[in-house]
Amino acid sequence: MTTPRKVHIKSYGCQMNVYDAQRMVDTLAPEGFVETASVDDADLVILNTCHIREKASEKVYSELGRLRTVKDEAARNGREMRIAVAGCVAQAEGSEIIRRERAVDIVVGPQSYHHLPQLLAKAKTDGRAIETEFPVEDKFASLPDPKPAVIRARGISSFVTVQEGCDKFCTFCVVPYTRGMEVSRPVARIIDDVQRLADNGVREITLIGQNVNAFHGDGDDGKPWSLGRLLYRLAQIPGVARLRYSTSHPRDVDDALIEAHRDIPAVMPFVHLPVQSGSDRILEAMNRKHTAADYARTVERFRKVREDIAFSSDFIVGFPGETEEDFSATLALVRQISYAGAYSFKYSPRPGTPAADMQETVTTTLMDERLARLQELIDSQQAAFNAAAIGKTVDVLFERAARNPGQIVGRTAYLQPAHVMASPDIIGQVLPVTIDSLERYSLIGALAGSAPSHAAPFSQPANTSPPAMTGA
Ligand code: SAH
Ligand code: SF4
Ligand code: F3S
Repeated sequence: MTTPRKVHIKSYGCQMNVYDAQRMVDTLAPEGFVETASVDDADLVILNTCHIREKASEKVYSELGRLRTVKDEAARNGREMRIAVAGCVAQAEGSEIIRRERAVDIVVGPQSYHHLPQLLAKAKTDGRAIETEFPVEDKFASLPDPKPAVIRARGISSFVTVQEGCDKFCTFCVVPYTRGMEVSRPVARIIDDVQRLADNGVREITLIGQNVNAFHGDGDDGKPWSLGRLLYRLAQIPGVARLRYSTSHPRDVDDALIEAHRDIPAVMPFVHLPVQSGSDRILEAMNRKHTAADYARTVERFRKVREDIAFSSDFIVGFPGETEEDFSATLALVRQISYAGAYSFKYSPRPGTPAADMQETVTTTLMDERLARLQELIDSQQAAFNAAAIGKTVDVLFERAARNPGQIVGRTAYLQPAHVMASPDIIGQVLPVTIDSLERYSLIGALAGSAPSHAAPFSQPANTSPPAMTGA
């Protein structure tokens, strides 16, 4: 028997990159690779990169510098180590990466990683291998899908990609250039993936896509299905207790999606709906194609069908031309909506995007100041939202043993971590928990009675990581 080769993957950026990294591991498994948590004994190191802001992409080069030292050391010991750069920086910079860092053997874009085995072979003979062209054919049709490179179940909660790419071209954003045009997977493939994950103990599915509610995959009736229709179908799969989707664009919220929240208990009442700014002038310069009032109306449509629904969002401060008045409009919108949490970022000019050429830049000092004010407001809303759970009995999907002995941790409908003292048998079940206190962002409580709410008797090893809320 040959000893397995070891692959170490480090992922940056959004949920799609986390999912892609897992698929890379699954693609390399038939080649005899096993995953290793350490760089030092790896035969192949993959950096799965993010290009969304300058800091994210610059991180890659400092990491590559460190890896070069490890690779040189391995070579001195007669061991060959390969370094691959995957993800959105690979797509955006291509061969430039190899020019800047000699240690890199392979550059592979997000649409090409299913060719990793061939690229490894090519790097061995040619010294280098680069593949960052967007494939002409549908990416999802070209993937070795459904088997053997399908994603393996890893615990209680799993991502499933339903669409990739984005045609929205927000003026600040690199995603349309790094992930390409919007492509939806066929419904049958998604059902197949969810079915298999559920059969292997997964209880929560988060459908992911750069613009997930633009989903329009072909159904078996030959017609494109909306995300709402897909949710209805997936909710029928036995074992699926919770369904989530991320990330949505406010302009693509249709009635079918709202109705899915009204009708399907498994669709969680927590929606990540990025707005970026509360100023109509800035929203227009960003090419978001909606106003702050349109956004608030969309939120109301959701709230009308489920009053317990909560929202999170993304914000950019310091977009070119943002005045104090524009920023005040953002604060006003945040007060109006009241979020359960949100991510906020300083604007970062990205090469090749229209906003990078805009002249009226906002100073770093002003950006820092606005970011602090926005984050203070969001933090206070999040703290109030979490505190409101105290004294209530809420459903928790239990995922794994917590760090404290005897404690099991799960997530509420709103992704708040919730800790109880209980037997590990409850992992994989949705159970009501009475919350009695709050420790930083975690809820602490006790199982309410012993009767499961709508849980099936699954028991899973404690190896799942919680779903992150958003990109980057
Ligand atoms: N629709 C996407 C958005 C990806 S980027 C998704 O699936 O998540 C995640 C967030 O990063 C955006 O919502 C935006 O708030 C932020 N972002 C994108 N480009 C940025 C830039 N140039 N500078 C600062 N923040 C940016
Ligand atoms: Fe598309 Fe989101 Fe980027 Fe806008 S911010 S271009 S919607 S990925
Ligand atoms: Fe790419 Fe995701 Fe970053 S799409 S640029 S890895 S946020």
